[in-house]
Amino acid sequence: MKNTKSYPAEVYLNGNWMPPQGAMVSVFDRAFMFGDGIYEVTPFYRGKPFRLQDHLGRLKYCLEEIKIPFDFSILEPLMFEALSRAGLAESDAAVYIQVSRGVAPRTHYFPDNPEPTFLMYAFPVQLENFQEKRWKVLVSEDFRWQRCDIKSTALLANTMSNEEAISGGFDENLLVRDGFFTEGSHSTAFFVSHGIVYTHPEGPHILSAITRKVVLEICRDLEIDYKEEAFPFDKISEIEEIFVTGTTTQITIVDSLHTGGKEIYSAQKGEITERLQEEFWGRTRV
Ligand SMILES: Cc1ncc(COP(=O)(O)O)c(C=O)c1O
Repeated sequence: MKNTKSYPAEVYLNGNWMPPQGAMVSVFDRAFMFGDGIYEVTPFYRGKPFRLQDHLGRLKYCLEEIKIPFDFSILEPLMFEALSRAGLAESDAAVYIQVSRGVAPRTHYFPDNPEPTFLMYAFPVQLENFQEKRWKVLVSEDFRWQRCDIKSTALLANTMSNEEAISGGFDENLLVRDGFFTEGSHSTAFFVSHGIVYTHPEGPHILSAITRKVVLEICRDLEIDYKEEAFPFDKISEIEEIFVTGTTTQITIVDSLHTGGKEIYSAQKGEITERLQEEFWGRTRV
């Protein structure tokens, strides 16, 4: 089912707080023209940031990769201000940040001396009931580009895939490239097979996800075997558990996988996922 989301009461755009109706960006903004921008979503558990430096580090990496200059010193205090202005200083929430290359006459090459367009706002997120969720997931072809490590606002391939899933009554996609699972349309994919947790290695075909990093840390601490290896689609019959992770997804159990109108996997067990969920809960709720 499609969720109805509402707009935040206020957004921060290029130095000022304002209602979203008044937040105007030029039609020549490069995010509008080309999707030439980077975004980041940072979770706050009852007002406390979780892995803030990892999120800011990824934003920095992505902006440097696409050569958008940006002053990071302003970010942290503004994030807390975004939460308190939205009345979310003590709540489960997230802060959205978007930086585009800014406004310039339309050329494919980057303009000299860009002035980035900077948007931020806070929004409430339900972060409490992830252990109860059971997702029905559609397997889709991964037709994204070769730089999925860049958290670009150009998300058309992800949105097309996810639209197919949601309109078909699914909760998320698992994407397959060249016979191997890469990740979800907006989440990281994990497979448990013969007691070992598999996830795609970092690189150009997945986002270097922060929740993925936390889950692998937990695996090490709980002595759960894991491999950063792409899991082959044709070994589905050897899967014991599947889960997807993300900042707002947290650790969500995949109950079934579908393709071509058929169910091709149905969850039997969940012990490893449940151990990871329990530990994740503890680490986020300190
Ligand atoms: C394609 C993709 N992979 C993975 C993730 C999970 O990343 P993170 O755990 O950093 O939220 C996201 C989150 O938006 C995503 O869009």
